[in-house]
Amino acid sequence: MRSLWAFCSLLMILFITSIHADVVPGEEMYNKKCKSCHGKSGEGNPMMEKALKIDPTLLVLKDLKKSDDELKTIIRDGKNKMPSFKGKISDDEISNIVQYVRSFSQK
Ligand code: HEC
Repeated sequence: MRSLWAFCSLLMILFITSIHADVVPGEEMYNKKCKSCHGKSGEGNPMMEKALKIDPTLLVLKDLKKSDDELKTIIRDGKNKMPSFKGKISDDEISNIVQYVRSFSQK
């Protein structure tokens, strides 16, 4: 009986830590859809800056002055060479990505 308890609590601990070890919501999607242009931590990808012939600062996603809603609109509808993700990423996921993008500014 005792070992059964030990086993169950071990399972619980594994379960709880696996939830906490989960990636931040938005991170996975960002890495899939945005990293190629904006870089791993929003520093911008220099290769893309050259390829798109744009000002390097345009791809930097740090210390953004815009509001969450403005950022969400840009991600949803696109802007100049920034592609639109309308219909490709749900609004909930866009909110998660915006939060993830905000975390770049604290580094
Ligand atoms: C093909 C390259 C490319 C991809 C992929 C891309 N972006 Fe962009 N993004 C750009 C460019 C170029 C701009 C600058 C647009 C402008 O202002 O001219 C931009 C601008 C932005 C801005 C506005 C920044 C500011 O200072 O106003 C945000 C926010 C942003 N992107 C988020 C994202 C997110 C989130 C994703 C993934 C879902 C993503 N981008 C994917 C190229 C890309």
